[in-house]
Amino acid sequence: MSEQTLFKVTIDNITIEVPAGTTILNAARKIGGDVTPPAMCYYSKLQGSGGKCRTCLVEVSKGSEKDPRPMPKLVASCRTNVMDGMEVKNITSDKVLDARASIVEFLLINHPLDCPICDQAGECHLQDLSYEHGKEGTRYEFQRRTFQKHDLGPYIQLHMTRCILCYRCVYVADQLTEKREHGILDRGDHAEIATQIQKSLEHDFIGNVIDVCPVGALTDKTFRFKNRVWFLKPMDAHRDCPTCSGKVTLWNRGDEVFRVTARKDEWGEVESLEDGSTAWICNTCRFEKKKTSDWVIEGPRAISRHSVISQGHYQGKIGMHKPRETFTAVHGGRDPKLLMDIHSVSEVNRPSIDLSLIEGPAHSTDFNLKKD
Ligand code: SF4
Ligand code: FES
Repeated sequence: MSEQTLFKVTIDNITIEVPAGTTILNAARKIGGDVTPPAMCYYSKLQGSGGKCRTCLVEVSKGSEKDPRPMPKLVASCRTNVMDGMEVKNITSDKVLDARASIVEFLLINHPLDCPICDQAGECHLQDLSYEHGKEGTRYEFQRRTFQKHDLGPYIQLHMTRCILCYRCVYVADQLTEKREHGILDRGDHAEIATQIQKSLEHDFIGNVIDVCPVGALTDKTFRFKNRVWFLKPMDAHRDCPTCSGKVTLWNRGDEVFRVTARKDEWGEVESLEDGSTAWICNTCRFEKKKTSDWVIEGPRAISRHSVISQGHYQGKIGMHKPRETFTAVHGGRDPKLLMDIHSVSEVNRPSIDLSLIEGPAHSTDFNLKKD
């Protein structure tokens, strides 16, 4: 077997090795946490996705070991591959944070602020993005775009005003169904998701457009206005389905199943199955199996994202002790954006030296490398 070439890349001062051909975004996902840029249009399970929304912009401060010149402009991390010795700044770059705030403002120019009545509230990536990177208020004074209503059939509700034109739903229809019925019509600020001549979307797997839509533009008609996600209890469940893997998340209140979705990973993407395929679910599982007796319940689903849903009931129990966050306390209530092991960046802080064994105050000579 041929050896895989590994490239060293440093993102926000953290160095890892990744196979050649990995994008900066996927390298950052390997590190995880705040080092990972947000991604509104990239979806690792959909070929061709990415490069549309610019939320994943990063600064490349060193191109590579061979050519250390910085890249002249911020680059889309979902579309830029790492080079050996590359150095990238994400949250440690003021330019990136500034650009991201502008992108949030841009995405919100036409997006209605209707979170209080939107079914996506609580699990909307644009909502998270604007809380984390946006600014208060808007400078936009013009009327927002409006669209003629398109009926996409019995299952899927389209709210075009909320769409950010990420193309994910178009790739789902292209890659999961035999015949794509919808797409992006027109261009510029007239561009919209629609079917060409009023058609409904009915393919067995088309319901997955709801799971990939990062905002509330495509929602489940069978769940619409029925409940808020943070009042529901997500449970992993499966059934013997002839069409799909049958592995889903049920969103229950008591014994009532309010909605069924695919299982999502920490990046908000539909999970991979053991065999490496993606756990897309069929319309029958999603829209028609709404009784607990239709499912074999596996147990509560842990939602690892910093979502409002996980502020709810199922991860903590009443009376559970929540540790006091020292960092938050000393930062005046702010969470640290980046934590670094000081030993990996400083020569004087060395774990092998026991400060309690040094008499009096410690001096640089106590940390002299030659001593041990
Ligand atoms: S409807 Fe949703 S998934 Fe489709 S392009 Fe718009 S935002 Fe993206
Ligand atoms: S996630 Fe990279 S451009 Fe949208």
